[in-house]
Amino acid sequence: MQRILVTGANRGLGLEFARQLLTRGARVFATCRHPGKALALTGLAAAHPGRLTVLPLELASERSIAELVREVGALTDALDALINNGGMLVSSERYGTIAAKSLSDSFASNVAGPLLLTQALSPLLEKAKNAKVMNLSSRLGSLALTTAFGTPSYAISKAALNMVTRQLAATFAPHGITAFCVSPGWVSTDMGGANAPVTPHDAVAGLLKVLDAATPAAAGQFVDYTGAAIDW
Ligand SMILES: NC(=O)c1ccc[n+]([C@@H]2O[C@H](COP(=O)([O-])OP(=O)(O)OC[C@H]3O[C@@H](n4cnc5c(N)ncnc54)[C@H](OP(=O)(O)O)[C@@H]3O)[C@@H](O)[C@H]2O)c1
Repeated sequence: MQRILVTGANRGLGLEFARQLLTRGARVFATCRHPGKALALTGLAAAHPGRLTVLPLELASERSIAELVREVGALTDALDALINNGGMLVSSERYGTIAAKSLSDSFASNVAGPLLLTQALSPLLEKAKNAKVMNLSSRLGSLALTTAFGTPSYAISKAALNMVTRQLAATFAPHGITAFCVSPGWVSTDMGGANAPVTPHDAVAGLLKVLDAATPAAAGQFVDYTGAAIDW
């Protein structure tokens, strides 16, 4: 049984990852900031007895990361995959009024959090055979595809997450762990909005195919939910 940890699993893509992973028979560790309020997520536990554990995690807090890793370590001796899904987008930023807090919050949640969490979970990932780390990036983090000003705190942080992925891929290669980053497409979640053309179901189904298919040759890649390469 695959043991998989997903962050930001109380809503949006993270919740859909938890749903589809449970349907596939995985053992799921699903994190969210407030488990007591995550009713859709905790509601999945009853239908999948013994296969879903919901744990608190605030990505911007080193203490929360350490506590999460301690709790996961008490529940499993290895992790087959880590899906760094949790992330934030500051909307309505305008050039001229960009706030330092928007940049630093985005960096803490979208860059430092996933890196520090992955680092802290490395011993559990190393104990699995061919473990994988999938980072949820975005086309908005592509330097090559950026031709207009928009959502700078988010875009800059996702570009940095892409660098995190390249660094992790390099450091993990000798340990049999494959780290890569993906874009889910423009998805109809709270972040993507109701007009987004891709459903969470289709984005996650595609991304789980990408996860399944990832061999060590996929280390350091940036692909979309169909598996197509994205320009850096
Ligand atoms: N939707 C899209 O079109 C799209 C496109 C490209 C990339 N993505 C990426 O896909 C991932 C999931 O997006 P989504 O559309 O599902 O977004 P969403 O609906 O806004 O959900 C974001 C999730 O991340 C969690 N989160 C945010 N900051 C956190 C922090 N500091 N610590 C812990 N959890 C935190 C949120 O928790 P709370 O509920 O507590 O806030 C929530 O569970 C994100 O990384 C996003 O950047 C999405």
